[in-house]
Amino acid sequence: MTRVALAFSGGLDTTVCVPLLEEEYGYDEVIGVTVDVGQPAEEFDEAEETAEALDLEHYVVDARDEFADLCFDSVRANATYQGYPLGTALARPVIANAILEVAEEHDCDALAHGCTGKGNDQLRFEAVWRASDKEVIAPVRELGLTREWETEYADEKDLPVEGGNEGAWSIDTNLWSRSVEGDDLEDPTYVPPEDIYEWTETPGSTDEELVDIEFDDGYPVALDGEEFDPVDLIERLNETAGAHGVGRTDMMEDRMLGLKVRENYEHPAATVLLTAHEALEQIVLTKSERDFKTLVDDEWAQKGYQGLVDAPLVDSLEGYLDASNAKVTGTVTVKLQGGQVRPVARDSEYAVYSESAASFNTETVDGIEQSDATGVAKYHGFQDRLANEVMERATATESDEEDDEQTRLTTDGGAEDGEE
Ligand code: ARG
Repeated sequence: MTRVALAFSGGLDTTVCVPLLEEEYGYDEVIGVTVDVGQPAEEFDEAEETAEALDLEHYVVDARDEFADLCFDSVRANATYQGYPLGTALARPVIANAILEVAEEHDCDALAHGCTGKGNDQLRFEAVWRASDKEVIAPVRELGLTREWETEYADEKDLPVEGGNEGAWSIDTNLWSRSVEGDDLEDPTYVPPEDIYEWTETPGSTDEELVDIEFDDGYPVALDGEEFDPVDLIERLNETAGAHGVGRTDMMEDRMLGLKVRENYEHPAATVLLTAHEALEQIVLTKSERDFKTLVDDEWAQKGYQGLVDAPLVDSLEGYLDASNAKVTGTVTVKLQGGQVRPVARDSEYAVYSESAASFNTETVDGIEQSDATGVAKYHGFQDRLANEVMERATATESDEEDDEQTRLTTDGGAEDGEE
């Protein structure tokens, strides 16, 4: 008795995978697993209905808490990839791990996904699964399936695929972001219509709104003084900020395989939390801590995009992120309006900020007089001035030597002329 666990959404790709895993790959039993990372309820209804119609043993796993925790880890690393806050990317390892657990509980020999051979998700799923001893199967990629072939095959087999979710665009939704791609949107010259957006109002039509966001060790913990667990905080903020049109991204994205693709995203909560977190860092971290952190953050984001959040490097990066975020405790007030989020106030007990030092109205700072800066001012740029001087002198000497040479040649030439 051989058994395979399939990452199942109830869409066309994963639906055709069910019979194919039996017919083409010879498995006796297929079980479908849908992992909840905050998709809308209709997606679960569709998965349940399709599974039932297929007579597929189907499990739904709630991984929202785990996913939200990972999203908050990404906030501590200010993580975005080319401007995109990584919603799809971070969800994949969480989903893959949840499916692996179900597969282990049910003694599956193999794991399967319905990803194509062009995208990032195949890589993210398999990076997790290949650490297990189970077979990994990618029917769509391995059998070279196209949408047309799948539609025909589904027709032929009378598979339940008429469910309404497959509109013109390919949409991937979770707590952290909503991604819309495909069809007309693939054309970089095509201006997306407003109706691709579901989480964000058309920017520009609302009054401004202030929100206080409280952080503890770099983790968002409260909105306007009210504490929330991560899932609720994200959901609440998606609504608040989405109402002001905050968090739209229209970008060209460099996929891992090298393809450039046009992507549209909505991610109101992510945008607000990333903005607020960075605003708090600005006041609690020293300049050198901030400078170094951009390197750490970028490495974290790259690994996040690749779906490799379990890499040893990420563990090491977390060491610095823990240390630096230990000071990212306090409150940031942001202003939401017209599709924008702007930090407008920051408050922290760790603020590396002395009013008397920065103020124009005080004479001395910790006993240092204004006039003590004279020596510093004299030295400032010393090396550059010296280097420029040396260069000028060298150039002057060279052109003097050239002039001399010129004079010598003209004189000699004159002598020759004279001989004639
Ligand atoms: N390109 C993005 C990523 O790799 C998201 C793709 C989401 N998929 C979709 N069908 N809209 O992370």
